[in-house]
Amino acid sequence: MAFKLTWIGHASLGLETGSYQILIDPYFRNNPATKVDPDTVSADYILVTHGHGDHIGETVEIAKRTGATVISNAEICGWLRKKGVKVHAQHLGGGFTHPFGYLKLTLALHGSGLPDGSYGGNPAGLLLTTNDGEKIYMAGDTGLFGDMRLIGEEGLTLAVIPIGDNYTMGPSDALRAVHLLQPQHVIPIHYNTFDLIAQDAEAWAESVRTQTKAQAHVLKPGESFVHP
Ligand code: NI
Ligand code: MN
Repeated sequence: MAFKLTWIGHASLGLETGSYQILIDPYFRNNPATKVDPDTVSADYILVTHGHGDHIGETVEIAKRTGATVISNAEICGWLRKKGVKVHAQHLGGGFTHPFGYLKLTLALHGSGLPDGSYGGNPAGLLLTTNDGEKIYMAGDTGLFGDMRLIGEEGLTLAVIPIGDNYTMGPSDALRAVHLLQPQHVIPIHYNTFDLIAQDAEAWAESVRTQTKAQAHVLKPGESFVHP
């Protein structure tokens, strides 16, 4: 079964698998890279990697309007539950079989404070095994870490990784990440939203193509990668 992954912009992703519409880190209103409207976007599930404003974004209002279940770490889910959001809490290393697939939270080297200063637990990456066995790793905001090799051992169809530098891996560490993850396909995100994270994604993709076996796909915000 195919899946379709859309880079909405910055770190916001849309994923369609089976009949499910999933939003990841839905940050729209103050996101210069997208015009997606949080008042009309649809979602069955919302996955939140960590508490920072450019990731939790409009999670609360979209979840309340759509009735989507939010999946994140226990601390963020506790914060969301108090706001009346339907949640499913997991934590690092733990997986659960949801209707759309088996989702595991993975290590991420970053912070996770929530916009109001609340404690947001540990940041996470997301490793989804779709119902037909495709493995999609969405690293979230993270620095390079050696245990990416363990994630790669799962056999990744697609890795979605940050290359923006400053807050996350930059291009050279992201290339090292591809060596560890060994995905069939890789998509760079979390760059060019702001001057501080400006990067030449095409040059990075070319380095991936020449130095690894992965197929690098540079999307424009709003563009999709469709896996048959
Ligand atoms: Ni962050
Ligand atoms: Mn971020």
